Amino acid sequence: MGFVIAIDGPAAAGKGTLSRRIAETYGFQHLDTGLTYRATAKALLDAGLPLDDEDVAEKMARAVDLGGLDRSVLSRHEIGEAASRIAVMPAVRRALVEAQQAFSKREPGTVLDGRDIGTVVCPSSPVKLYVTASPEVRARRRYDEIVADGKPADFEAIFADVRKRDERDMGRADSPLKPAADAHLLDTSEMSIEAAFQGAKTIIDAALKKA
Ligand code: CDP
Ligand code: CDP
Repeated sequence: MGFVIAIDGPAAAGKGTLSRRIAETYGFQHLDTGLTYRATAKALLDAGLPLDDEDVAEKMARAVDLGGLDRSVLSRHEIGEAASRIAVMPAVRRALVEAQQAFSKREPGTVLDGRDIGTVVCPSSPVKLYVTASPEVRARRRYDEIVADGKPADFEAIFADVRKRDERDMGRADSPLKPAADAHLLDTSEMSIEAAFQGAKTIIDAALKKA
């Protein structure tokens, strides 16, 4: 079985940026598990189906193709909102977790990022990172991304959205967002992307030596 690196944390903590860099450095395959929730949500929205029917949502989750996930197609705010609503449903989570676990077995290794990788999807992973930053810093990062895209942005609205997403992710009964007991905490509030990567690399290199 491949070497699994589990990366969890709240919205806009820098998980995706860090995961892509790690995957590239070590030649591992990367799965952004948030995209599996987003793809399920988009399929429901596109078909005009309700977001509160667990059986229907589970069917859509089981049809998600991991090879066809593309953040640019799934980035719409409306899709993110719908994703965080269907992510509270146990049957949806079971279906997507199974697909994520199958992915994690790929060789020579994988990087999975999300909310419950170290706690539920891959609890025996030898490297678990919990990447976080203050809500203000995370909202600022999202704001900067939108402005860099040349679009209008409202900081207060983005900040409120980050707080709401945190509450939903940390407050749900099934697989709430929290660090695994053996996770390394990486608070990137005051860290550059490079510093965060170097911190992660030290932890991964030590674990690879032991593997
Ligand atoms: O995947 P997640 O939602 O956790 O965050 P991301 O999309 O990887 O990162 C959000 C933004 O924060 C990106 O624009 C990054 O360039 C920026 N950023 C970062 O990822 N890490 C830092 N230490 C500083 C900024
Ligand atoms: O929109 P944002 O960047 O904050 O999150 P995302 O990584 O694109 O994931 C979309 C939604 O899926 C999140 O709000 C989470 O509620 C949910 N999710 C989850 O429940 N478990 C995961 N392993 C990944 C995402």
